[in-house]
Amino acid sequence: NMYKEENRPLVHYTQRRGWNNDPNGLLYYDGEYHLFYQHNPYEREWGNMHWGHAVSKDLIHWEELPVALYPDEHGTMFSGSAVIDYNNTAGFNKGNTPAMVAIYTADQPQKQVQCIAYSLDKGRTWTKYKGNPVIDSFDKWQSRDTRDPKVFWYAPGNNWVMILNERDGHSIYNSSNLKDWTFQSHVTGFWECPELFELAVDGNPDNKKWVMYGASGTYMIGSFDGKTFTPEAGKYYFTSGAIYAAQTFTNIPESDGRRIQIGWSNIDHAGMPFKGTMTLPTSLSLRTTKDGVRLFSEPVKEVEMLQTKAFDRKDLTVQQASKMLQPYNNAGALRIRTTLKLSHATSAGLNLFGQRLLDYDMNFNRVNGVFYSPEDRTSMEITVDIILDKTMVEVYVDGGAYAYYMERKADPNNKEGFHFWGHNIEVKNLEVYMLQSIWK
Ligand code: FRU
Repeated sequence: NMYKEENRPLVHYTQRRGWNNDPNGLLYYDGEYHLFYQHNPYEREWGNMHWGHAVSKDLIHWEELPVALYPDEHGTMFSGSAVIDYNNTAGFNKGNTPAMVAIYTADQPQKQVQCIAYSLDKGRTWTKYKGNPVIDSFDKWQSRDTRDPKVFWYAPGNNWVMILNERDGHSIYNSSNLKDWTFQSHVTGFWECPELFELAVDGNPDNKKWVMYGASGTYMIGSFDGKTFTPEAGKYYFTSGAIYAAQTFTNIPESDGRRIQIGWSNIDHAGMPFKGTMTLPTSLSLRTTKDGVRLFSEPVKEVEMLQTKAFDRKDLTVQQASKMLQPYNNAGALRIRTTLKLSHATSAGLNLFGQRLLDYDMNFNRVNGVFYSPEDRTSMEITVDIILDKTMVEVYVDGGAYAYYMERKADPNNKEGFHFWGHNIEVKNLEVYMLQSIWK
């Protein structure tokens, strides 16, 4: 393990030192997943934004690379995305090497403008475009909140689409060359870090819908014609907002076909020279529920490469289940998948040293205090996938219908370890895996 620090997460990405927030420029290219991110290299607080950079061959083990984008005369480097310009639309390609193009916000004291930069060496070194900025929409919106461009190739129109947060929502722009952008439309009700992508409903390629979301994890489902997103309904959420500013990968091979997402969590790893954490990559899907079509988010299957099974048991009492977990009370990283069956419409959950990892209030439809409407409101069961790391806990509920994250904080006065609680509950299933460190 290259890192020896006590509070360095074992299975979540953190940089050597300094601050991180939003994942940026998520992209797969030529055998590598790229994770760029908002980064302050000098302090473990937000400010002085750069684009940090890490690469992975498997979405799990990351190698930190030198800073990708430095502040320049246009501003500091705020969030954005990256694409591969296979058709040389911008003219940055060299021979057979297509340019990797980053589209990002430069933050200035008075306004925020959109800029581009390109790399011909797989994101290692970058050249800023001399014609920057490519969008300055301050006058139009009379607002300095114009930021976080997410760009993708729109095959039906043979052009680039940008979704950009502007003042009170998300705007759509089109371009043929990544340099000249034309405003098309705007949807209100979102804030920061826009996303827009298409997904099959229930895996059916003949029934696809578009998803638009913002930084807080609220989303709308609808249709998109290349210029306008038309929502079918109001906003839903796939997370309590503790995961923020998520983005999905561009350029995932069609043979894979997944829509893979990474989000950010503001975790303060006590005593460490770094702050902030990337969530585990998750795979997104649209599924039909009793309430309608909803977005689900579950950890990617690659996480399993870190697992060693500790045990897998069925039909336990809470006492038996709690007891079986005692040897893992102080585990650095652990995955617990469990289904609780309630006998009354009351509450049930799982604590660790007094911290409520799961607190399901069936009577009021709440999980850890937040309203959660399960797919089947009459089901007496709840299923959770808990990923426990040194300083952070991620919890995916009912196959990823809802997810939340928290800092791992044992109550020093509580000696209880893992503890299932609830009135007459049954632990129908309890699978426990030890997780290996991702740091080699
Ligand atoms: C979201 C955000 C973005 C912005 C970035 C700056 O967390 O505020 O809107 O680009 O962080 O670091």
